[in-house]
Amino acid sequence: MTTRPITTDDSGIPAPSDEHSLSVGPNGPLLLQDHYLIQKMAHFNRERVPERVVHAKGGGAHGILQITEDISQYTKAGLFQQGKETPLFLRFSTVAGELGSADTARDPRGFAIKFYTEDGNYDLVGNNTPIFFIRDPQKFSDFIHSQKRRADNHLRDNNMQWDFWTLSPESAHQVTFLMSDRGTPASWRNMHGFGSHTFLWYNAAGEKYWVKYHFKTDQGIKNLTAAEAAALQSTDPDHHIRDLYDAIKAGDHPSWTVKVQIMPFEAAADYRFNPFDLTKVWPHADYPEITIGKFTLNKNPDNYFAEVEQSGFEPSNLVPGIGASPDKMLQGRLFSYPDTHRYRIGPNYLQLPINQPRNAVNSYNFDGPMTFRNSQDPVYAPNSANGPAADASLYEGENYQVAGEIIRSAYTKHAEDDDYVQPRALWENVLSDTDRAHLVSNIVGHASAPEVTADMKKRVVEYWSNIHKDLGEGVAQGLGIS
Ligand code: NDP
Ligand code: HEM
Repeated sequence: MTTRPITTDDSGIPAPSDEHSLSVGPNGPLLLQDHYLIQKMAHFNRERVPERVVHAKGGGAHGILQITEDISQYTKAGLFQQGKETPLFLRFSTVAGELGSADTARDPRGFAIKFYTEDGNYDLVGNNTPIFFIRDPQKFSDFIHSQKRRADNHLRDNNMQWDFWTLSPESAHQVTFLMSDRGTPASWRNMHGFGSHTFLWYNAAGEKYWVKYHFKTDQGIKNLTAAEAAALQSTDPDHHIRDLYDAIKAGDHPSWTVKVQIMPFEAAADYRFNPFDLTKVWPHADYPEITIGKFTLNKNPDNYFAEVEQSGFEPSNLVPGIGASPDKMLQGRLFSYPDTHRYRIGPNYLQLPINQPRNAVNSYNFDGPMTFRNSQDPVYAPNSANGPAADASLYEGENYQVAGEIIRSAYTKHAEDDDYVQPRALWENVLSDTDRAHLVSNIVGHASAPEVTADMKKRVVEYWSNIHKDLGEGVAQGLGIS
């Protein structure tokens, strides 16, 4: 006979019953002194934290980054040195849907990685696309509002989505990805990840480079057609969580090859595209991908809530050897993530095991709700008590000159900047005939929703005609506009 542990309350006190509340006689009212019942009910009422305002639905796993090449000429970041292995946690997500929404919805996929490095946590909070819908954070909340729900009937509204997109031509490149079959990946294992932004790298000598990260799936790209994705939404809304969990459980550990594009620091100023514009890629012919290593996901979370729901990623977590670029979107995100974590999880979210760095924390921040890190005296700096002291030399190389008038403005244009030139290259040179046919039918399906007005359909045709005449004509034909 197996012996069962005795149920306790959260203070470890043996529970009086798993089934019966304390009452006055078998049929009488309940007693306030039933602390065990009250703790159970009160704790249940507090089981949720607010869901993420975007990227609410997701799943994740633990893994390891292995660097195989010597790239010390570009960065001194400890995690990118040849032979280094760094533990990581990766969370995948959809963007617009709520916590219970379907995994196979047409949406970009979040690809957020937390590297637990010896120099503290380095977070790369990217997507499965190398670009984004907008290039200024001023428009982010408006963009997200247009993708989520209306204020009046609480419904999602394709008319609202096309209204925002057609009034924001910089969205054309990302919307092309979104409406292609890559907008409905077959699984998280079968898609690439991208750091998307341009970041700064600097080496031990203080020499600087601009870098973009590409994580290429070793499982191969696989997508769903619109019909397959729609079918899975009803038969298995948690399809992507299940796929990842089952694969790792079965020992089939997915991996991604880590590649970077490197641009010399000085080349940015007169590059043919603005290299900091998040709606643009760096064409490979200009800056080829360099393989630097791989990462593998090899362990499922033990507890979904503790590890996936309470994970907090922040693009502002940058370690020595890596810095921010002047990409305006990245600059906005440096503020946004730690701010939302303090609200969503609480001010000491960095003390939770999933967010806690694996190296020693010698911070002068202390106390606050739910603290359990034992802060040491002295509690201020500077001090004469031999407390921790910052080492500015670790960040030598991060500095660069900027000057200019304080202004609200679009980016200065580079020679070939144009909102349509890169989606046009995708349509003309990269997509197969089948990809093109699916892109057209996916757009037509989306813009045929009953709420999309006749006037909006004309704007949709114009939007796609700006990318390519054939694409515009295909959409016009599908929407019945001559
Ligand atoms: P390349 O021909 O050198 O690269 C094309 C890229 O497109 C490859 O990374 C390819 O890699 C990817 N690709 C292939 N099929 C699709 C698809 N159906 N949807 C999206 N991406 C696909 O050309 P350029 O570097 O000059 O880029 C041309 C266009 O390709 C760009 O304007 C951009 O739209 C797109 N692209 C470019 C990327 C870049 O970083 N340069 C990255 C991704 C897309 P894979 O099949 O492994 O994804
Ligand atoms: C999640 C803001 C652009 C990728 C979030 C969250 C916020 C946010 C507030 C919720 C975080 C949480 O509650 O844990 C913003 C702002 C942006 C922006 C203000 C632009 C100014 C982007 C871009 C990308 C991106 C460009 C990708 C390239 C993600 C991912 C998550 C996320 C992957 C989910 C992280 C996780 O798995 O926990 N964003 N975002 N975001 N964002 Fe952004």
